[in-house]
Amino acid sequence: MDTADPDSAPTTRRRVLLRRRPQGLVDPADVELVTEDLPTLEDGEALLRNEVIGIDASVRSWLGEGSGYLPPVELGEVVRCSTIGRVIATRCDAYRVGDIVTTLGGWEDATVIRDDLFSTIVSPPDPDYDLEAFLALYGSTGCTAYIGMLEIADPQEGETVVVTAAAGATGSAAAQLAKRRGARVIGIAGSDDKCAWLVDELGLDGAINHRTDDVIARLRELAPKRVDVVFDNVGGAVLDALLARLAMHARVVLCGHISTYTDDDKAPGPSNYVNLIQQRATMRGFLAFDDIPRFPEIGEQLRAWHRAGDVVVRTERFEGLDRSVDALNAMFTGANTGKIVVLP
Ligand SMILES: NC(=O)c1ccc[n+]([C@@H]2O[C@H](COP(=O)([O-])OP(=O)(O)OC[C@H]3O[C@@H](n4cnc5c(N)ncnc54)[C@H](OP(=O)(O)O)[C@@H]3O)[C@@H](O)[C@H]2O)c1
Repeated sequence: MDTADPDSAPTTRRRVLLRRRPQGLVDPADVELVTEDLPTLEDGEALLRNEVIGIDASVRSWLGEGSGYLPPVELGEVVRCSTIGRVIATRCDAYRVGDIVTTLGGWEDATVIRDDLFSTIVSPPDPDYDLEAFLALYGSTGCTAYIGMLEIADPQEGETVVVTAAAGATGSAAAQLAKRRGARVIGIAGSDDKCAWLVDELGLDGAINHRTDDVIARLRELAPKRVDVVFDNVGGAVLDALLARLAMHARVVLCGHISTYTDDDKAPGPSNYVNLIQQRATMRGFLAFDDIPRFPEIGEQLRAWHRAGDVVVRTERFEGLDRSVDALNAMFTGANTGKIVVLP
């Protein structure tokens, strides 16, 4: 076995285990932070020290019993989520000590990885690699924005694009990619500070506060010729308002519906969907998960745009595994601007 420094190799790891299925926001008592002995590495395994943990909305859906694109986390298992870090010990030919690897790990400071679809070498050893920017943009979050906005919505120069949860991780990337295409982009967000960030820092053409503004009335002002592309992360009442203002041949891309993730009951359907008929519009959902093999290539493109200053990245940091619940709940209370990360 190859290890970074056998004398200082860790023998235990800290992990947050699911103890009870949450109702609504996650209660601290729904999980337990434990210290466990590290399992002995088998042939074909390596040990990843997680340096940054990414909080995604899908984490909350995996804590329920419902069906998602992956099975629920079982009681007693580590809370599943994306992580990135460096390999510190290996018995796997695919990984060398020091490699920077992203995996579908968990709320834990070390993850045992294998050479599989979910564990990808992001970079050979590189002290300057921006791990937080990877989770915010070059990895699955940015790839979701890229596929949903550039490949499915495909906005054209001069078209009007509206992005919901635009100050969040996926939304802020999607909005900036549409701007790069030359579209007029309006962001919807939950506070005046977020709206100011969207216009002043990201250069969007307008912003709407869904908590205090009349969304339809503001859309009439900001997009008098109606909306060609909707990139929706939230569903519910905000989506319904947007459907009332579709332009002819509009494309509505359904990325997520976070406004209903903590509800037990199904949300009522949007009443303005009939406008799709009159406007000959399309509405399409997608899962970036289907394109995982393409993530490295898309991620390198996003990294190049970030390094060139074309796309801004912002993270909301929570220090310590004991802040994981707060970090996940922040997503549902709207406390975050940009990507939520936990530094274990
Ligand atoms: N289809 C895919 O393959 C795919 C992949 C990744 C993520 N997603 C989806 O993308 C969406 C964004 O995920 P993310 O990880 O980037 O999270 P995020 O946007 O960084 O954070 C979630 C944001 O949603 C907004 N929000 C929460 N509850 C809301 C409500 N009731 N009404 C309106 N807005 C609400 C909040 O912003 P405000 O303060 O602005 O309200 C919050 O900051 C989620 O729906 C997620 O499921 C889809």
